[in-house]
Amino acid sequence: MTEKQEELRILIRHAAIEKRVKAVAHRITRDFRGERVHLIGVLKGACIFLSDLVREINLETSIDFIAVSSYGRGKDSSGQVRLLKDLDTSIKGLNVILVEDILDTGLTLSYLLRVLRQRKPKTLRVAALLDKPARRLKPVKGDYVGFMIPNDFVVGYGLDYAERYRNLKDVCVLSLPPEGV
Ligand code: IMP
Ligand code: MG
Repeated sequence: MTEKQEELRILIRHAAIEKRVKAVAHRITRDFRGERVHLIGVLKGACIFLSDLVREINLETSIDFIAVSSYGRGKDSSGQVRLLKDLDTSIKGLNVILVEDILDTGLTLSYLLRVLRQRKPKTLRVAALLDKPARRLKPVKGDYVGFMIPNDFVVGYGLDYAERYRNLKDVCVLSLPPEGV
């Protein structure tokens, strides 16, 4: 069900996501062979990606979550990043993989990397389901990226528009009616 005049078009089907998540998890398993990895999910968008990813990683793992505000309720970034929920435990000396739903302007990621680096993890890498490089304002990049996508607003598989659509199995492009209609 979509609200009046909101249209969804499938961009990445669930089967393709599943396949790619497995491939990313195998890369992580290979890169950290014999070690433990600590996944940090950025709430709320990354929760579904993280849940699927961690179950395909064949290593000792632990997970934690962090929450930041950046976009408010709609589609446009305020440009301001604020920590809403901190980690539960220390990351000192751990192999940390920050798990994001999507890299867009890079403001959230550059803020989080700065905060996490200060806490002296052994290694710090980034896994992102999606990467939308067209809108980058900060020169950040993911170490493990699921899919590069064009400059469209997408929802599903954890990504929301005003908190809706996170439950869609596919990643879809959302088109909104023109302003003022
Ligand atoms: P950034 O700080 O601009 O890189 O934005 C990162 C956050 O903005 C993501 O973690 C998402 O929550 C949100 N975001 C960016 N692009 C999209 C999109 O196309 N759909 C839904 N959320 C998005
Ligand atoms: Mg969001």
